[in-house]
Amino acid sequence: MYPFFELPSFTSGMLIALIASFHILPSHLATGAFWFTVSVERDAIRRNRPELLDFLKKYTLFILLFCFVSGSLTGVGIWFSSTVASPRGISGLIHNYVWGWATEWVFFIIEIVTIYTYYYTFGKIDSRTHLRIGWIYAWAAWISMIIITGILSFMLSSGKWVETGGFFDGFFNRTYWPQLFMRTGLMFGIAGLYAIIVASRLDNQDVRKWITRKAAIWGIGGMAAAGFFCTWYLFSLPEAAKALLFEGTLPYLKKLGTVAIGSLAIVTTSFIIFGFVSPWRVNTVTGTILVLVLFAGIGAAEGIREGIRRPYVIDNYLYSNQIVAHDLPAKKVTAETVRFGTEGFLKNLFFVPDQIKDAPGVHPVEAGRIVILLQCGNCHALERAGIIRPLPVLISRLGMSSPEELADFLLALESYPYMPPFVGTDEDRLAAGAYLASLVR
Ligand code: HEC
Repeated sequence: MYPFFELPSFTSGMLIALIASFHILPSHLATGAFWFTVSVERDAIRRNRPELLDFLKKYTLFILLFCFVSGSLTGVGIWFSSTVASPRGISGLIHNYVWGWATEWVFFIIEIVTIYTYYYTFGKIDSRTHLRIGWIYAWAAWISMIIITGILSFMLSSGKWVETGGFFDGFFNRTYWPQLFMRTGLMFGIAGLYAIIVASRLDNQDVRKWITRKAAIWGIGGMAAAGFFCTWYLFSLPEAAKALLFEGTLPYLKKLGTVAIGSLAIVTTSFIIFGFVSPWRVNTVTGTILVLVLFAGIGAAEGIREGIRRPYVIDNYLYSNQIVAHDLPAKKVTAETVRFGTEGFLKNLFFVPDQIKDAPGVHPVEAGRIVILLQCGNCHALERAGIIRPLPVLISRLGMSSPEELADFLLALESYPYMPPFVGTDEDRLAAGAYLASLVR
């Protein structure tokens, strides 16, 4: 185990969630936008409408600036935050999918080279070659989505990988295809919404109207596809995930679902209004509000995906608190739940001072704090005023206060479907109980 990265009150898990949710906007815009771009540019060439190129220049410049600055920064931010918050989770992924990421990065480089070339060669090279560069970008960006979706969906449904350890057994898992198509639909929706906002700033009213209608059709199509494949996705979820989501075990997940559906409905309705009823209603302000609505919906949907993966960070392999949950003979890995249960959890933490490790009973509160921080701290704040599921509040609600009662409660964690079981010897557990009691005192 690694030392714990503690983010008081907020929890390190939420830090990743914040950065990753923001990353969705630039990343999906970067993958979807150029399909719209090349479609408009093809129209411009075929119908001989050079005035459309003004729109394209504006459209591309923002992608170049927004996606390739904020997208790159938050992309690296996800790596940094998940490396400190979930070092073994990220290590497990790298050990399996390093070649997946290597492939993805090749396509990132193609994207970076082609988008700069595309933007700076507007009007300087012949139009067919320019269009071809756009196509290369569009495909490279979508291929990067094909790859990353395999790794993301693997974390939720690891499939046959737990038996074979095979790259593709985990990659093409049961939630892969619906998730890929859902994200693809969504990327067209985001591209359409962004096109409408850019078009609202054009002086040429003909072009504005034409682009707005075309973008609305893309948006409606994208959102409808996202909705359809989302339904398939929900059906394809592992049974445990379905239970968490649909059976009300974690009521907040259903609330997130309502936010996601509401956001999809609002954005789709706006596409219909802007595209077919009154295109003049859209301006930078209404457009930005819609982006925020869409952002809330996407954030909620990602929150669900992360929530229903519990208690694992890698399905059926690694718990959210970094403890190896089950044997994985294909990778010569053995469960730590069993080993720590006999050898002791604290005893296996090399960074804990010997006097605490060897006799947790002498300083039970200090020893217990380390146990609780490592086993619960990813999901729970330890402060009473903590923002994310504060343990003192949750425990007070259960009405327990003595160290013994709380140590017994830790045995009952096993019966919660969304929390990992407590791992360790009775000594570890009594120390943890003593610390929990100090929280509610
Ligand atoms: C994978 C994330 C995760 C981990 C790790 C985790 N919990 Fe939880 N815990 C949750 C969630 C989610 C809830 C539900 C909170 C809610 O209902 O708002 C919860 C609820 C609780 C509750 C309230 C239970 C109830 O019946 O109302 C207690 C107490 C609790 N956790 C203690 C712990 C302790 C102690 C640990 C560490 C030994 C721990 N949790 C580890 C996610 C986690």
